[in-house]
Amino acid sequence: MTELRPSCYSIRLKARSATYVTSATDAAGFPPEGAPEFAFAGRSNVGKSSLINTLVGVPKLARASNTPGRTRLLNWFEVQPQKGPKVNFVDLPGFGYARVPREMRDAWRPMVESYLTQRETLRLVFILVDARRGVQDEEAELLEWLIECDLPACIVMTKSDKLGKSKRKPAALAIKRELGLPRPPIMTSAETNEGLADLWRVVHAVL
Ligand code: GTP
Ligand code: MG
Repeated sequence: MTELRPSCYSIRLKARSATYVTSATDAAGFPPEGAPEFAFAGRSNVGKSSLINTLVGVPKLARASNTPGRTRLLNWFEVQPQKGPKVNFVDLPGFGYARVPREMRDAWRPMVESYLTQRETLRLVFILVDARRGVQDEEAELLEWLIECDLPACIVMTKSDKLGKSKRKPAALAIKRELGLPRPPIMTSAETNEGLADLWRVVHAVL
């Protein structure tokens, strides 16, 4: 069997193309429904925008920042994967950041819930959990709520590079146990590209 060179792997880990579509705060601003959608949810600073950028291979597509609460709108990106039909990735505003103004925190729930409950083309919600912090109440509540709404969800650990190698597996197993998952969550890093192939596999499996 011919051995695949590393460059062949890295090409497969990226999208063929990815472009910004629009941003919105309410249903009136959502783009027309079309391609199947994958939403990225999680607390502020967990690495949603960075993971989208790494997954598609366009470094500054979604705005990533050290300032928690950077993504305050729902942002749509049209993505052409290496194979199969176009999909949309939706970068959701982060929750759980105490220092944003109260009005913004109060606005989060209706804004995100209206998207999650009304979007017919939504196929799956990736719930991102910081590998070092583990699951907190908000992530567990979001998962429970998605299950009640019959919306498929996939738990993804982020920033695995910040966790020592010996701590990674135990951290994944702890999340599996706490959330009662059938298997451990996907471990990812926007720094090392860990887990990207697994994420693409999930996207293609759902399409
Ligand atoms: P909000 O838009 O505020 O909700 O945040 P977000 O979830 O989109 O996080 P973002 O992608 O902006 O990342 C937050 C910070 O974490 C940035 O400084 C990133 O560079 C950093 N970061 C994101 N992913 C990783 C990762 O896999 N490894 C490391 N070491 N840092 C990361
Ligand atoms: Mg963001």
